[in-house]
Amino acid sequence: MNKNLPEIMMPASLAVVALLICGLLLTATGVLDEYLPTSASQIEQPGGCAVVDMPSSLNRVAFDTLHLPVGKRRAILAGEFLFKGNCAQCHGIVDVVVGPALAGVRKRRPEKWLHAWVKNSSKLIASGDEYAVKVYEQYQKQQMPSFQLSNEEISQIFDYLQAVEKQGAMVAAN
Ligand code: HEC
Repeated sequence: MNKNLPEIMMPASLAVVALLICGLLLTATGVLDEYLPTSASQIEQPGGCAVVDMPSSLNRVAFDTLHLPVGKRRAILAGEFLFKGNCAQCHGIVDVVVGPALAGVRKRRPEKWLHAWVKNSSKLIASGDEYAVKVYEQYQKQQMPSFQLSNEEISQIFDYLQAVEKQGAMVAAN
């Protein structure tokens, strides 16, 4: 047996202990994180009531089965709020309302295109973007309003829509 073993074991076990402590600390903060309010503006409802940690339109069990990290949950939650406040009067997820059903739109269009479209669809149409012109003509040249939303907020809307879709697929499969 290597006579140096105890000398090697000592620092090694210290390192293991240090790792365990780090792990515990991370878990603790992660858990705490879950209960902290999401970044202010997004969760304040007009009534002044803070939204709980998941979108009201999602099923808790299905949502939990998606095993989403806290950051993603928050994005989805903020997305629900933004979608309902800005888009839902014209868009459904599976039904055509005034505008197209938004299910699978991330498969149809790249994220950058979606950002540009939501910020200013007329600009994209005027630029001659083939898809933009096509969807505009398909919907009787109805102009979608422009939104002063950040790229992050726009992506949150699509995170939300995607989560609803995933949940739908999951429920259908059971
Ligand atoms: C006043 C109605 C209206 C509102 C509000 C609205 N849209 Fe639209 N949207 C449309 C119409 C109509 C189209 C079809 C294209 C056109 O006519 O310009 C469209 C098209 C789209 C498309 C392209 C869909 C596809 O299948 O290619 C996306 C993406 C989209 N909207 C996202 C949004 C988002 C996100 C919001 C909220 C921030 C929103 N829209 C709010 C009316 C609306």
